[in-house]
Amino acid sequence: MKNIRIVLPLVLLWALSSIGQNTGIIPQPLRVDLKDGKYIITSKTSIISDGPNLENASYLQGLLKVEYQKELKIKRKGGKGIILTLNPKLAQKLGEEGYVLKVDNSAISISAGTTTGVFYGIISLRQLIGEDSKNGNLSISGISIEDSPRFGWRAFMLDEGRYFKGTQQVKKLLDQMTLLKMNVFHWHLTDDQGWRLEIKKYPKLTEVGSTRNNSQIGGWDSVERSNTPHHGYYTQEEVKDIIAYADERQITIIPEIEMPGHASAAIAAYPWLGTIGEIKEVPTVFGKLPDSFNVSDPRVYEFLENVLSEVMELFPSNIIHIGGDEVKFEAWKSSEEIQNFINDNGLTSPADLHIFFTNRISNYLNQNGHRMMGWNEILGENVHEWQEPTDMEVKKSLAKNTLVHFWKGNLDLVSKAVEEGYDIVNSYHEYTYLDYSYKSIPLEKAYSFDPIPEGLEERFHDKIIGSGCQMWGEWIPEASDMEKMVFPRLAAYAEVGWTSKTKKDYSVFRSNLNQLLIRWRSQGISLPDKFEKVNFEEKK
Ligand code: ACM
Repeated sequence: MKNIRIVLPLVLLWALSSIGQNTGIIPQPLRVDLKDGKYIITSKTSIISDGPNLENASYLQGLLKVEYQKELKIKRKGGKGIILTLNPKLAQKLGEEGYVLKVDNSAISISAGTTTGVFYGIISLRQLIGEDSKNGNLSISGISIEDSPRFGWRAFMLDEGRYFKGTQQVKKLLDQMTLLKMNVFHWHLTDDQGWRLEIKKYPKLTEVGSTRNNSQIGGWDSVERSNTPHHGYYTQEEVKDIIAYADERQITIIPEIEMPGHASAAIAAYPWLGTIGEIKEVPTVFGKLPDSFNVSDPRVYEFLENVLSEVMELFPSNIIHIGGDEVKFEAWKSSEEIQNFINDNGLTSPADLHIFFTNRISNYLNQNGHRMMGWNEILGENVHEWQEPTDMEVKKSLAKNTLVHFWKGNLDLVSKAVEEGYDIVNSYHEYTYLDYSYKSIPLEKAYSFDPIPEGLEERFHDKIIGSGCQMWGEWIPEASDMEKMVFPRLAAYAEVGWTSKTKKDYSVFRSNLNQLLIRWRSQGISLPDKFEKVNFEEKK
């Protein structure tokens, strides 16, 4: 009897606390306490904002107007309503992005150490609002939330090198990242099959490089073609507009300009950039293409520095992604010019040359106050079965302040890299590639990803600054097909990036997701019929 008396309340408490997490908020906040009472937002409710939060106040005002047709006034002082306050002390406790959200009968208050934190409080509030179908009032049940993210880097990557999607689609994706508190839009703007960014000094990059005459369809070995040209690029003015849109939503844009491989579209525009000298037009097939920049030619460095200079001028981010993945070394191996360059510079192999090149670019970016990021091939490890081991003998080492974007190879390489002092963004392909089918990455597998590999010593954990999920575009010309790959997995990755390990729970996530699925459907976002592991198991 005695035991039951103790155990039952504990079980009840446990049950209540886990029910308590079913708030509808994704990503799951750090601490949630359900409270009595509820706050009703009517047309008479005011938003009461301190000076620093006026932009946040008008963002909230806009949201309530667009989503619920409620026109609230913004006041600087006094009274009850939705209160937005900066409290610098909270930055120590909850970090730069954390916030406190409290709802009771008399008020809603959101406070944080920074305006970014207050913004995220507003985003959580947005997911808590329920609408009374009879009188149109908006009600929010009593709650107290203290929240902050597990990682500072919570990225979504869009590959537009393969298929251009355009401003409206990008903004639609940025809106969904906002709702999920994702803060890095990694914009893959150049690849073999397309150059999508206006560079004023080199107009042919877009005059030539943004159009291909045809596209391979049907998969890697397919001989089928679309028989239609594909074209598109962003002017710098359009990019500025997208940057401003992202900035209003606390999203940093990291542009990716691929080098020295995945560069055929640039080489088609300016053939002297290439090593082989055979590219005459933007390639129409996908896959790993043979040519790379001729990194022994000083004109190529001058070109890349001029391009990066415009990129640095355009994008406010102080990190630039330079790709660096999947360089096929045959072109460099059969070029006499490159072989001489390797000898003259005391290098040992094509991989050594790759590091030499990457460090020069890194140096240029550093001198201009920027930090380089690249896929993990830039470390010089052999992560591809098609590379000859002798091509991978390296003496050079990658500049230590490089941000390494891990996607390929044994997860032990992450441990090795952080032990050597590199910061890592973990986008391990088997868990985070959105172009992979739901059969290979069902929602639950996406959710289970831990950017910190098992067994990594705790002292290195903060070297993993976060993770990304990547929407590669080779086979996905249509936006609706792309959306089916992105949603709902984006929500799982948001929780991977934000939610503390102690709070991650797939069943709670899955139940919170229902509300989001309804929201997405009502917004016309295309969703797949099946996305859960159970569906695929049933099919067997
Ligand atoms: C990559 O998937 N090639 C980074």
